Amino acid sequence: MISVDYSKVLDFINLNDLPRIGQEVTEIHYMLHKREGAGSEALGWLDWPIMDHKETIAKINACANRLRKISDVIIVIGIGGSYLGSRAGIEFLDNYFSDKKPEIVYAGHHLSSEYLCGMISHLKDKNFSLIVISKSGKTTEPAVYFRILKQILESKYSKEESKERIVVVTDPKSGILRNMANKEGYESFDIPENVGGRFSVLTACGLLPLACAGFDIKKILKGAEMAYQNFLNPDVLKNDCYKYAAIRNILYRYGHKIEIIANYEPKLNSLSEWWRQLFGESEGKNGMGLFVSKVGFTTDLHAIGQYIQDGERILFETVINVQKVNSSFYLPEDKEDADGLNYLLGKNLTEINNSALIGTMLAHIEGGVPNILINLQELSEEVFGYLVYFFKKACAISGYLLGVNPFNQPGVEAYKDNMFALLGKKGYEDLRKKIKQKGL
Ligand code: PA5
Repeated sequence: MISVDYSKVLDFINLNDLPRIGQEVTEIHYMLHKREGAGSEALGWLDWPIMDHKETIAKINACANRLRKISDVIIVIGIGGSYLGSRAGIEFLDNYFSDKKPEIVYAGHHLSSEYLCGMISHLKDKNFSLIVISKSGKTTEPAVYFRILKQILESKYSKEESKERIVVVTDPKSGILRNMANKEGYESFDIPENVGGRFSVLTACGLLPLACAGFDIKKILKGAEMAYQNFLNPDVLKNDCYKYAAIRNILYRYGHKIEIIANYEPKLNSLSEWWRQLFGESEGKNGMGLFVSKVGFTTDLHAIGQYIQDGERILFETVINVQKVNSSFYLPEDKEDADGLNYLLGKNLTEINNSALIGTMLAHIEGGVPNILINLQELSEEVFGYLVYFFKKACAISGYLLGVNPFNQPGVEAYKDNMFALLGKKGYEDLRKKIKQKGL
């Protein structure tokens, strides 16, 4: 499914580093699986791939088929862990410029009114449905968009038909969304209490939108199950997932404090965003953690490539390479060779892209940027499920290596409180006074 090549890191670390950190990793492995570490109440994702999900899969597929029949557009409303995973999967698997029906669009992942106006005009004369996803059920961005889109839906369809066009994915028991679903009779799915937002892509949170987009969610879970089995070995030298976690921490300890995920296939851009949120929100705590960033090459070689090659030496790259692509396009011959490209005749675009990857890796390594290379066999449902589990487990191990609780996100609350105070929400009066005193 995937293979991980660490050979381009060895010049930057000491040979004994890996076995040394390996002892810590093995201890963390047992702590994780015995559920004894910080945040262990949120480990529902760990054994998820080997649990029986037949009933849920059938229910998700039935719901997706129903929505697909009645919708030209399905709007997935959510933010952070409640939307990045499904978007990552859909873009990973979809064709470019697809005019597949239904169209999947996203909302509630920001507060732009320009976007909303554009969306409303796009929906004119189209049949649409809403999938609203929020574990807590109270996040402002999706809640605001849901209220507005629900009213538009209800003004287009009868109350009864509107209900058929709204599906809720939220906490099984509590929260505003759960109460709304119960009261209104919306079809609903659970994000289990013990699975946090950014670890929830293999639950209905990610799987329902993926099924609506026409993908085989059984295969996604199959891939995750293979990853589960392959990454059980407590020995860091025999477990690529743990090796990835260990190496990024070794590099961090040597001062490579920024990890950039790089791809050469734009279908992976949203996967990179999901990865960035997974690691950024899990690890950036207590004044610690790798700063995680993303680039899409070769596009970004013309944007940030100079810095990577030549700027401050605090970076390393994790490069994702897709080994098998479905299309290959050969450069046509031009007798005049006016553009000087005839030296590429007989080569297809994938080979040219591959040369860019190898050439860039070599240049960056020579420039002092360690590179980890992750090869994906292909862009399939199984590989997506496998990769998602690989990163989730690596993130848990890596967070514990850093000494933080990888499963909470206390820092995300600070901006929300200020925003509530500024917008006059009840209960935030003291904070509002404090903000005013600062002259803001
Ligand atoms: O990973 C997380 O927990 C967060 O990114 C959440 O997913 C995000 O804040 C959205 O929260 P909710 O699903 O409660 O709306």
